[in-house]
This record gives sequence, C-alpha cells and structure tokens, in this order.
Amino acid sequence: MANMIPPVKKSLNGSIIIPSDKSVSHRAVMFASLAKGESVIHNFSRGADPISSMEICSALGADIKFSDSNTLIVNGKGLLSKPVNVLNCGNSGTTMRFMCGILAGQTFDSVLMGDESLSKRPMKRVIEPLTLMGANIISDNYHEPIKISGADLHGISYSSKISSAQVKSCLLLAGLNANGLTEYTEPSISRNHSELMLKYMNADIETFGTTNIIRKSVLEPQEIHVIGDISSAAYFIVAANILPNSDIIIRNVGLNATRTGIIDVIKAMGGNIEILDKKIVSNELVGDLRVRYSQLKACTIEGEIIPQLIDELPIISVLATQAEGQTIIKNAEDLKNKETNRITAMVTELKKVGADIVETEDGFIINGKTKLQGDAEINTYFDHRIAMSMYVAGLVCEKSILIKDFEWVNISFPEFEKLFNRLMQ
Ligand code: S3P
Repeated sequence: MANMIPPVKKSLNGSIIIPSDKSVSHRAVMFASLAKGESVIHNFSRGADPISSMEICSALGADIKFSDSNTLIVNGKGLLSKPVNVLNCGNSGTTMRFMCGILAGQTFDSVLMGDESLSKRPMKRVIEPLTLMGANIISDNYHEPIKISGADLHGISYSSKISSAQVKSCLLLAGLNANGLTEYTEPSISRNHSELMLKYMNADIETFGTTNIIRKSVLEPQEIHVIGDISSAAYFIVAANILPNSDIIIRNVGLNATRTGIIDVIKAMGGNIEILDKKIVSNELVGDLRVRYSQLKACTIEGEIIPQLIDELPIISVLATQAEGQTIIKNAEDLKNKETNRITAMVTELKKVGADIVETEDGFIINGKTKLQGDAEINTYFDHRIAMSMYVAGLVCEKSILIKDFEWVNISFPEFEKLFNRLMQ
C-alpha cells in the first residue's frame, strides 16, 4: 500500500494518548508466560512485533487470550513445553534475541526463524555469550534459522562490547534459568525495562551501574499496565516542533530515563517540550508531554546518549533538517543492524526530498535549515521507522511525497496515521 503525504498547511493541535510501548509489551507477555499463574497485561500493543512474541509464547504452552481489545490474560505454567512447529519471529529482532535466551536453557529443542529482514540481522551477539553459558545453538553463520537444543546452563560473567538491551535481556533471561550467578556488564546503560520488570516479578536480580547480576529464580505473576511508547511519541514530538503554530499534549508517555534521550535532544536544540504530571506505573515512570513549535538550532549527538535514543535517530535526522546549523550524529553504527541500514536509508530518502545530509561511518551530518521540496517517491525498505520518519518529513515538504509500502508502520504503531489525522483537524 502506497501512501500520499500532502504538505500540511495546518498546525498540530489537541491531545492524544500514545499507545502501548513495544519493548514493554514484549517483556510483559514473555515474562508472564515464564511465571506460574495468572498475569493480567493492560494496554498490550497490537503492533505486529509484540503479537509475534505473544504467538510464540502460546506455542510454548502458555495459555494466552485477549479479554478485550488491549488486555491480555496470561496463564503461565511455570514451565514451557516443546513447540510443535518452527517458531516464527516475523520482523522482530527483540522476539528472536529474547527467545534465544529463554529457549537455550529448556529441556527441549526448538527452531527460531524470521522474515527476510530478520534473516539478515546479526545473532552472533547473543549466540556467542549463550554458548559460553553451555547453550547448544546451530545457526546459518550466526543468522536464522536458529536451532536450539535444550541444555543445562551455567552462569558467566560477561562484558559486552555493545550497549544493547536485546543482548542484555537475552543473557538475563538465560541467567534466570542457569545454575550459579550470571553477571552482565554493558559499556553504557541501554533501556532497562527487563531489569525493572524482572524485579517487579520478584526475580533475584541486582543492578550496580552498568552491571546486572541475576540468579536462578521463579517469576511471580503480576498485573502489568504497559506504558505508552516514547519511540512512537517521538514522531509527534518532532512534528509539533517543526510545524508552525503547533501546540499538543501527548498523554501516557513512558519516561524511563534510559529512553528519554529524545527529550534531552529536543531541549538541547532549543525545542519547546514540557513534562507534566509524572507517576509510576508497574515500576515504570510515565507522564504527559506538552510540545510546541520552536525555532531549533543544531547540536551534536554522540556517546552514552546513543542507546537511549537509538530508535529515534531516523526521526531526529528529519528534525535536524529543520534546525539552524550543522547537526552531527556519531557513534550510531548499530543503526546499520536494525530492520534495514537506517543510516543509508534516511540519507537516501531525505536527499530525494531536498535535505542536505551526508552519511558518515557511524552516523549523519545534516545542514539546516532546509526547505524540503518533496515531489518524490519514497522507499521504506520495509522498515516501520523509515516509513514514519518520512511521513513526518512529508508534512513539511513543499509538494506531496508518495511513501511506498506504508503498511509497515503496523509493525509497531497501527494507530499512527489516525492519531496524526486527529491532531490536524
Ligand atoms: C529493544 C532494544 C533496541 C531497540 C529495539 C528494541 C528492546 O535494540 O533498537 O527496537 O526492546 O530491548 P538494541 O538494544 O539491540 O539496540
């Protein structure tokens, strides 16, 4: 399905409730399936990726049903059972990497596969440390299909070279079922939803700065309210900052400090963003944001903040085209390992609409402020974040753009266009 994005002559006004966090939804359904007893998950995401995790958990013996459109009732048996079929992770790297950690320590064998994009994504980062823990994994040169023979795992002390929440969570999940103690250290802190939820479900886990220590534990079922996704909110935050006269409220946004890099960047660029009304929900911080049109200036984004806004870098590249001066984004080489190479994809597509943007080894250099021309046919590379970022770019283009394969937004954010339309009325 292609989508025509005409330039918006209007501002964004009004308020929206941001839908469920993809990362937290994955964790909620997986952890509840490992627990023994009934968990209730409110505000579960209807994105295709969390649904892939949910279907795999069902195939592994958890009893899972929707009691209404967004509430999941999960009855975990405390033990998983051998799946009948190959487990399909679809487009979801989170599902595949987390499942490697969960399945490596089971008593049965299993096979994980994924779609074309996932088949190209690197799995060495999880297979290597899991093998050190005693896992038996055969892959196609560290790509799917991944054949896992259940094994007795033992804890290790592991220092990762990359700050990846997927790798960290995989090892913590393996450690949950391993003998002895599993210690995991990352160079700087990546999103910590797994640690917070494991604590909330009574796992034996401790956090010391960039190190987590976990011991074998049985998870307790819980009632979990999934927070709104700041990565989804990012498209509205940026759009309101660059569309003149905009003034919006975005409600129920997850404000976990390991995810709020986008807010820091907006502030550093002189953007208008206020946090209203914070509270803790199911061990996570959540709040409402007020965002207004701003005169933006360029900045440099690098170092420890990168893992805290990794999924927002495509939309930040759009933001930077509307900021005065040179924005430099460094240390973001892992963007090449996402659903597509997000550096090449954003540079190619933003150049088509007239942006002054250059690809570097580990990021982008963007000169602004540029009047984007539009009048282009845009590729999404079957990547939801490229589709949504280019949609926002389209709103400030002089002429329409046509985005091909726009339905890929459904991977994380099926409500995306409906919510934009609401704010444009
Ligand atoms: C995720 C972690 C991030 C992010 C992905 C979701 C998670 O990946 O890009 O969309 O839910 O843990 P890395 O931590 O591997 O960078």
